Amino acid sequence: MGNSTYTHRILDTANMLKDNNLYPFFRAIEASDGTTITHDGIDMVMIGSNNYLGLTHHPYVQEAAIKAIEKFGTGCTGSRFLNGNLTIHEELEEKLARYLGHEDAIVFSTGMQTNLGALAALCGPKDCMLFDSENHASMIDASRLALGPTFKWKHNDMESLEEVLASNINRFNRVTIVADGVFSMTGDVLRLPEVVALAEKYGAHIYLDDAHGIGVMGDRGRGTMNHFGVTDKINYNMGTFSKSFASIGGVISGSSEAMDYVRHTARSFMFSASMAPASVATVSACIDLCEKDNSIHEALWGNVDFIQKGFKELGFYTYNSETPIVPVFIGDDLKAMQVTQFLKENGVFATPVISPAVPKGEALIRTSYMASHKREHLEKVLDVFEKAKKALDIPTGHRLH
Ligand SMILES: Cc1ncc(COP(=O)(O)O)c(C=O)c1O
Repeated sequence: MGNSTYTHRILDTANMLKDNNLYPFFRAIEASDGTTITHDGIDMVMIGSNNYLGLTHHPYVQEAAIKAIEKFGTGCTGSRFLNGNLTIHEELEEKLARYLGHEDAIVFSTGMQTNLGALAALCGPKDCMLFDSENHASMIDASRLALGPTFKWKHNDMESLEEVLASNINRFNRVTIVADGVFSMTGDVLRLPEVVALAEKYGAHIYLDDAHGIGVMGDRGRGTMNHFGVTDKINYNMGTFSKSFASIGGVISGSSEAMDYVRHTARSFMFSASMAPASVATVSACIDLCEKDNSIHEALWGNVDFIQKGFKELGFYTYNSETPIVPVFIGDDLKAMQVTQFLKENGVFATPVISPAVPKGEALIRTSYMASHKREHLEKVLDVFEKAKKALDIPTGHRLH
C-alpha cells in the first residue's frame, strides 16, 4: 500500500499497536448492565464510561424511554424548526431551565452540536472568545466555525485569563470566556468564582461547558455553577446528556433573550434533526430521579471518596481530581497501552489517554466511577491496579519523561 492516499502518522501507530495486540480503541462491547460489561468474552468492571449516575439501566428510566417510543415512534425525522418539534421537547426544556436555575433552555441532538451551534452563533465577526487551553475538542471545532477570533489562556490560570481579557476587552463587541466546568481528562474543576470576578471586572460573558459537571456537581447535580453558587452570573451553561443523563443530546441554558437568539441562529440546531423521543424521555426521567432524593448523589460521592483514597494509598498520582473522573498518571504512551491491556486481561475496562490528547510523557489511564458501582467492583479495580503497578513498573508520583 506504498502509494495509498490514506496515510497518516496516527494510522501507522494504530497498525503498530494492532500488530502487538495492544490496540485499545473501538472495543466492541457484547453485553452491559452499566457497571459491568463483556468484551472479547471477558467479564469486566466498567471504569471507562461517563455514566456517572449509573442510570442507563435504571428501570424507571428505561420504562420512560419505552413509553416515549410507543407514543411518538423512534425518530422525529426533521428539525425542531420545522416538523421535528414534540411537546416533550418543550416540556424537557422547561424542566431543564427550572432544574438548572436559568430562565430558558434549548436541547440539541448532541453536546458536540450544542457547542458548534451555540458558540458559532454567539461569536460573530466583531466578537471574540477566550478559551482555557484544555477546552474540549467540540469547542475547538466551534472556534473554527465562529466568525470572530479565539484567544487562549493557560489552563485554570487566572493571571493568564486576566492578561487576555485586558488585551482584548476594548477591541471587540462581545467577549466570551469559554471553559469546561469539570475538565474531561483530569477531573479538575474550573476556578469559577475567580472567573466570575474577572468577567464582572472586565464586562465579559461566561460560557460554561459543564458536560462532566451536569448531573454530578452541586445540589442534586445542578452543575458546577450551582456548586459555587454563581448560577445567575453564568450567561450560557452548556451540558450533555451523553454522560450523567444516560442518553444522547445536549442543552444550553441562559436568559430568555439569549436563548431566543441561539434558537434562531445556531445552524446545528436549525439544520439537524431533533432529539429522538426515547432520548428526551430518558433525560426527563433522570432529572426526576435526581430531584426525588439525594441517594444517587450520596452513593456517587461515597464511591469517589473510596477510590480516590485507595489510589493514593497505593501510591498512584491522580492529578488534582475532585470528581468521579480519576486519571492515573502513567507517563509513557506505550506503557499506557500495556497497562490498558493488563487491566483488560484482569477484568477491568479503562481507557488510555496518550499524545496528542495530552502532552508527550503525560499519558494516563482515565478512570471514572458511577453511583451504581458496588464496593466489590471498586476493590477489584484497586487490586488489579496494584498488580499492574508491580508487573509494569508504573511510576509513583508525577514523574515527567
Ligand atoms: C467537555 C465536553 N464537551 C462536549 C462534549 C460533547 O458531548 P456529546 O457526547 O454529547 O456530543 C463532550 C463529550 O465528549 C465533552 O467531554
